[in-house]
Amino acid sequence: MAATTAIEMEHVWLSFEGKPALADVSCEVRRGETLVLLGATGSGKSVLLKSVLGLLKPDEGCILIDGQDIVPLSEDQLHPVRRRMGIVFQEGALFDSLSVYENVAYRLREEGIRDEQEIEHRVREVLSFVEMDAAIDKMPAELSGGMRRRVSIARAIISQPSIMLYDSPTGGLDPVTAHTINLLIMKLRDTEQVSSVVVTHRLQDAFFLANFRFSAQTQSLVPPNGGGKAGGASLARFLVLREGSVHFFGSAKELAQTRDPYLHKFLH
Ligand SMILES: Nc1ncnc2c1ncn2[C@@H]1O[C@H](COP(=O)(O)OP(=O)(O)O)[C@@H](O)[C@H]1O
Ligand SMILES: [Mg+2]
Repeated sequence: MAATTAIEMEHVWLSFEGKPALADVSCEVRRGETLVLLGATGSGKSVLLKSVLGLLKPDEGCILIDGQDIVPLSEDQLHPVRRRMGIVFQEGALFDSLSVYENVAYRLREEGIRDEQEIEHRVREVLSFVEMDAAIDKMPAELSGGMRRRVSIARAIISQPSIMLYDSPTGGLDPVTAHTINLLIMKLRDTEQVSSVVVTHRLQDAFFLANFRFSAQTQSLVPPNGGGKAGGASLARFLVLREGSVHFFGSAKELAQTRDPYLHKFLH
């Protein structure tokens, strides 16, 4: 894919009954970069994610996915675009009546893959990535919140999306478990070059994603410019939505140094 920008929003407006949920939103996510999406409840974070998925249509503006504007696309035309994306909701949204194996296999079956050996191989591969191999035959009800979240990530990445959207992936988790989810998000970004948008209320999550990267070589965390990565490309940028408008879009450093009183509410 030639485009270096995975997601680009240009002057996006989206209203419900005349009330804007997104008001002139412009931002971009480069390939292999994380966009950390912050904002109060009702500020438009989930609406932004849904419009990137093409589930909600803006009234005005463009949404480019890998360089292609998806706003004019029909449902049928959106299918191949959505196949390149994975989404993880806070609720985990697993099918309670299906085993972990079947939950994770779901997208492959939907895509028409019938070879059970291939399905099992790929299910085991992604479960191993999220370190949930042992739970393959369990039912969702038998899993803890953190485990369910891991299985959701496995389910989302089975079709090898180049873009991942996470809506409050650490919401409701204790700090230790939340950290393991952040590590997974980081590992996908830094070892698979997955571009992502991460909605979070936890600033420590946000700065963690910006201030470290996962080294495949050493299988450990390193500072962003350490470990020989050329150019020191941005790992994460921050978007703060306020009543549907972009209140801030910039680097972790810029956010940390801001004197803006509204942003201080988030930082303290
Ligand atoms: N399907 C919908 N119909 C009507 N209003 C909606 C719908 N989805 C979201 N909204 C409104 O859009 C605004 C942004 O919502 P949302 O993106 O869910 O906020 P959050 O930042 O908490 O994720 C809110 O005012 C919400 O009430
Ligand atoms: Mg939301």
